[in-house]
Amino acid sequence: MDPVTEIPADAPAARARHAALVQEIEEHRSRYYGDDAPTISDAEYDALERELRAIEARYPELVEPDSPTLTVGSAGVATGFASVKHRERMMSLDNAFSLEDVELWLARVGREAGDHEVVCEPKIDGLSISLTYENGVLTQGLTRGDGTQGEDVTANVRTIRTIPERLAGDSIPALVEIRGEVFMPVKQFEALNEALRADGKAPYANPRNTAAGSLRQKDPGVTGQRPLDLTTYALGALEWGDTEPDARLERQAGIYDVLADWGLPVTEHARVLRGAEAIDGFLRELEAKRHSLVHEIDGAVLKVNDRSVQRQLGSTSRAPRWAIAYKFPPEEVHTTLEDIRVDVGRTGRVTPYGVMTPVTVAGSTVAYATLHNAHEVARKGVLIGDTVVLRKAGDVIPEIVGPVVAARTGAEREWTMPAECPSCGTLLAEQKEGDKDLRCPNSQFCPAQITDRIAFIGSRGALDVEVLGEKAAAALVESGVLANEAALFDLTEDDLRRVPMLTYEVDEKLTKKQIEAGVEGRKAGDVAENGRKLLANLADARTRPLWRVIVSLSIRHVGPTASRALATAFVSMDAIRAADEVALADVDGVGPVIARSVIEWFTVDWHVDIVERWAAAGVRMEDERDESTPQTLAGLTIVATGSLEGFTRDGVKEAIISRGGKASGSVSKNTDFVVVGENAGSKATKAEELGLRILSEAEFVALLEGGPEAV
Ligand code: IVH
Repeated sequence: MDPVTEIPADAPAARARHAALVQEIEEHRSRYYGDDAPTISDAEYDALERELRAIEARYPELVEPDSPTLTVGSAGVATGFASVKHRERMMSLDNAFSLEDVELWLARVGREAGDHEVVCEPKIDGLSISLTYENGVLTQGLTRGDGTQGEDVTANVRTIRTIPERLAGDSIPALVEIRGEVFMPVKQFEALNEALRADGKAPYANPRNTAAGSLRQKDPGVTGQRPLDLTTYALGALEWGDTEPDARLERQAGIYDVLADWGLPVTEHARVLRGAEAIDGFLRELEAKRHSLVHEIDGAVLKVNDRSVQRQLGSTSRAPRWAIAYKFPPEEVHTTLEDIRVDVGRTGRVTPYGVMTPVTVAGSTVAYATLHNAHEVARKGVLIGDTVVLRKAGDVIPEIVGPVVAARTGAEREWTMPAECPSCGTLLAEQKEGDKDLRCPNSQFCPAQITDRIAFIGSRGALDVEVLGEKAAAALVESGVLANEAALFDLTEDDLRRVPMLTYEVDEKLTKKQIEAGVEGRKAGDVAENGRKLLANLADARTRPLWRVIVSLSIRHVGPTASRALATAFVSMDAIRAADEVALADVDGVGPVIARSVIEWFTVDWHVDIVERWAAAGVRMEDERDESTPQTLAGLTIVATGSLEGFTRDGVKEAIISRGGKASGSVSKNTDFVVVGENAGSKATKAEELGLRILSEAEFVALLEGGPEAV
């Protein structure tokens, strides 16, 4: 997955590149191990180290004893903390970036892959710590430093609640160095940043940096106020004295049992596995749930379980051979913010978005990311031309985290929100005072809004009209065929002939035979296949259930849930239009805000015109009440996750709602059943954690038919 590193072709070039890389790596290390915000992403840093390693492999004469490939951490930061020697060195880990890398490592440690048991556990993205206990009493806490000498942060360490002053149990060594990772739980980190933002202060960059800064406070009182936590995973120096050594320590997994008995926090996610296939499965599962763990992780650590094999394998100067860190693909990368533009949406909301040099992040290429509104642009403090941190956590939307201020050249420029709509020139305004969003108030005539509304009608959540996407909607509006959505269902072939995107560009070339046989070829300007399809699909869309028609009207606040509630309660568009505010607000799932919005919408003439023209064109304005569906799910809340064989996503919802149940998108303790299909993710995990009733697809079908008694 990695671009092949280019190695300089001759020794002088290699020497120059080597020196430049060493300097660059040292700089980044001193930022990383100090509490300065990093200026490159972890993945970019890893790439630098890899390049250096490749050069040194080809030109071994360039290797110096203090080369970054042989050292860990950073020694160069003056800190004010006393420097103390570790009794046993603190090692780093070699990295694997792919499953092939993992398999190569397995082949190296076992005669054949799968020979040995391997302990697999999360790689916590925190900072390493060494805790010394003498006769069971905490006497020292040291950071890693350069691996040989660390900083004495004992007073600060003592403020971390999960670090015991005294080891528990009877089997206590005379002296032990316990190694682990100090971190800030993600939830607490977010709360901390939320509070900073509320105070108008700049938020912290990430949990790791914040944890590092918190642990290295001059005043332990400040550290004590930071929500730091710890996980332990290794032992350094160990002297049993008069105590009988604990035999469990002959296995890596046994170390965790002993640490837990001593009262130290250990991971609950460690597994002992054998063979590439099982390990591969573990890595995939861990990656899928990486964002539901309490702390950030950047990969997994794999360790040979048998400690006599560990001893045989030994270590290089910087890392043990019996362990390897598998790094997940990066979720945070750096790229250039080339421009900030604004988009006018379906409801007139004007949204600034960043245009970036395309980069791959978490497995997909990203070039655009929303910046939400002008306040967000100001809050993030990004300038056009900035190097920015771009994040994509799991399958969520890409986010511009902020600028890399240290990378500024002075050529960056500030962005200002336009005062006028970029589509129709109307003066932008707040919908109501104090709104963060600006809107284009010209909803009747603004081409951008009309286009987006028409494309929305075609979307899956509305009338699901294939061909009617963004492009076709834009083509229909630009060609002047549609002035707005009112005439959508009146479109004819004649109309479409005026839309270049939906017609043939050139005359069809016919063969001699075809001409002789009198075949009439397609002529330029004839309605093309996609145009015909559009008309057929629009005809189909007329018969969709009423709630989908309501969704398609783009009434503010009226999404699928409210539309369904309205359709169920009133059954026809006329009844909804005739209902007063109280009757509307009374409907379960509607409420006063939506009721007000519906009433206001129907007071506008051109809105009413849309409904009337659609009705005249045969669009469904009344549902048939189906009394025959038994209400087997009355009062039940059901969540479906993953893909099911016999249902589409909407189909599942439809099936639940039509039987009187509530289809919910999120798992909570109020959920009655969770239907789990293929490739289900965090919702399934959460359901298990909450001890909820989990159903297979077959059980779900039984539930639909027979209600809770049937399962
Ligand atoms: S074991 C001799 N286990 O990752 C092996 N390290 O990149 C010592 N880390 O220096 C490390 N989670 O600070 C180990 N479960 C884990 C870890 C872990 C995070 C850190 C540790 C180490 C660094 C190497």
